[in-house]
Amino acid sequence: MSQEIYPAEPEATRRDASEAESSRASRGWWDRNADEYQSDHGAFLGDDRFVWGPEGLDEAEAGLLGPAGSLRGLDVLEIGAGAAQCSRWLAAQGARPVALDLSHRQLQHALRIGGSDAPAVRLVEADAGVLPFRDGSFDLACSAYGAVPFVADPVQVFREVHRVLRPGGRWVFSVTHPVRWAFPDEPGPEGLSVAASYFDRTPYVEQDERGEAVYVEHHRTLGDRVRDVVAGGFRLVDLVEPEWPAWNHQEWGGWSPLRGNLIPGTAVFVCERG
Ligand SMILES: C[S@@+](CC[C@H](N)C(=O)[O-])C[C@H]1O[C@@H](n2cnc3c(N)ncnc32)[C@H](O)[C@@H]1O
Repeated sequence: MSQEIYPAEPEATRRDASEAESSRASRGWWDRNADEYQSDHGAFLGDDRFVWGPEGLDEAEAGLLGPAGSLRGLDVLEIGAGAAQCSRWLAAQGARPVALDLSHRQLQHALRIGGSDAPAVRLVEADAGVLPFRDGSFDLACSAYGAVPFVADPVQVFREVHRVLRPGGRWVFSVTHPVRWAFPDEPGPEGLSVAASYFDRTPYVEQDERGEAVYVEHHRTLGDRVRDVVAGGFRLVDLVEPEWPAWNHQEWGGWSPLRGNLIPGTAVFVCERG
C-alpha cells in the first residue's frame, strides 16, 4: 500500500528576512504560483493592457509615464513584469520594452501570450537588485507591483534603476498602499479593523517546516518609501492613490469594492531621475 505525503501548509509569521532569503523565496513562490496567478488574473490584466493594480487604473487613461504619444521610440524597462502585459501595451505605443522578472515560469507565460514568432518585447530573467544592463540604457522604467514589495532593500533596486536610466528618465512603480499593512488581508468586513501596527516593519513571512521562507513581503511606511526614493537619487513628482471605480466589481485577494471604497489599496510613485 502506498502512502502519499503532502507538504505541510506553510506557517505565516513575522520575522526578519535577508535580501538573499527574500529573493530565493520570491523566485520559488512565483515559479510555483505563476500558472494560478495568470489563470486567476489574466482576464482582468488583459493580454496587452497596462494596469497599475487591482483598482484597474489603466495607463492609457492615467498617463503616468508621460503624455499620449510620448512613448514612441523610448527604451523602457519593466521590472517584475510577470507575463509582460504592460510591456506589450508599451510596444503597441511604439516603445522598445524590456520585460524583466525573477520568475522563469512568469516569463514562460509572457512567451505563451506574446508568441515567439516576432517578439515585440525582450524578456530578461534577473533579480531587480542587480540589473544586467549598462549605465544609461533606458529612457523610462516602470513596475506594476513587481519586485518592490518583495525585496528587503528597495533602495538597492532604486539605485540600480537610477544607474540604468538616462538623465531625466521617469521611474514609476506601484505597490500595496502602506496603510493596508495595519489591516488583515481580507476582502470582507474583517479587513476593515486595524489588527497590527502600521509602524511595525517586521516582514510578513510564510515558512516551510524547516523554517525556510517560501513567501516574503516587506513593509515600508509611506514616509519610508519617500525617503527610499530620494536615497535612490530620484525626485518624487507625484503619489497617486487610485480610487475604487464604480465599474469594478471584482475581488483580488484582499482588494475588494468594499475596502476599496473606504481605504486606499495601491500607491503609485511617480519619480524622476536627477
Ligand atoms: C504581483 S506580480 C506582478 C506582475 C505584473 N507586473 C502584473 O501586474 O501582473 C510580482 C512580480 O514580481 C516578480 N518579482 C518578485 N521579486 C522580484 C525581484 N527581486 N526581481 C525581479 N522580479 C521580481 C515576481 O516574479 C512577479 O512576477
